[in-house]
Amino acid sequence: MTTPSETPRPGPRPAKQTFAAAGEDVDVMAISPVQEEGMLTDDRPASPFDDDIVAKARELAARYPQSRSALLPMLHLVQSVEGYVSQEGVAFCADQLGLSEAEVSAVVTFYTMYKRRPCGEHLVSVCTNTLCAALGGDAIYQRLQEHLGSDGKPLGHEEVAGTPGEPGSIMLEHAECLAACDLGPVLQVNYEYYDNQTPEKAVELVDALRRGEKPAPSRGAPLSDFKSVERQLAGFFPEDTDAFRADVDGPSQAVETLRGAQLAADRGWTAPALPDDVPLPEVEHK
Ligand code: FES
Repeated sequence: MTTPSETPRPGPRPAKQTFAAAGEDVDVMAISPVQEEGMLTDDRPASPFDDDIVAKARELAARYPQSRSALLPMLHLVQSVEGYVSQEGVAFCADQLGLSEAEVSAVVTFYTMYKRRPCGEHLVSVCTNTLCAALGGDAIYQRLQEHLGSDGKPLGHEEVAGTPGEPGSIMLEHAECLAACDLGPVLQVNYEYYDNQTPEKAVELVDALRRGEKPAPSRGAPLSDFKSVERQLAGFFPEDTDAFRADVDGPSQAVETLRGAQLAADRGWTAPALPDDVPLPEVEHK
């Protein structure tokens, strides 16, 4: 009988082959554990997960009473190395956490923050949810698609302008509500906010990124790159923790964010006080 830990490991595919499989059905193709016969060879490239990454993965697993709880940060750790989650990344997490590759794959394909094809140096996410769309988010996304496309073909969702991972390369995606509706239309670069955007401002921003510049976000931490942010999302921060904390913990609200609270304060509005003894509803025991 085959146990999950005995599942044959397909080994890494050449990056070109993995990316080439990234068509409409990339979610399945790129991480499917099903491999063609003959894919296992002895001349596999060295694992991208070196001793330092293995140590970090073990540190993550040890942070939780159940090691499998470390899967989400561990997938961010994988992305900090690879720039996406390859089949080898799936196998790495499965090995570290005693999970099957199918279990890891199910998580990777569920969350949009885990990329199944190599990302650019930067990830540009344009909010096209209802409020931002009505305020111009759809127009921003369309303009960036056209601006970043090539040969007259607009760039598609999760496609990369430039060579993935190379300086100045950009993965574009549309996103649903980036939780900054008060400042819409918004976009993010590597999850840092750029508020009150227009198509023109967005084009200027991506052009600066392609030139290797790091325009300051509207608030929060300074801009870095996708892989560095993934390392932080995994729970590993720069050595200069104080400076890092000062950036991240800096003011992140805008005038618009507090407008409702300010109006209430100006007009003397308060919420009704909660009674001390609120009867709890009966719970039906089955
Ligand atoms: S709708 Fe765009 S941030 Fe909420």
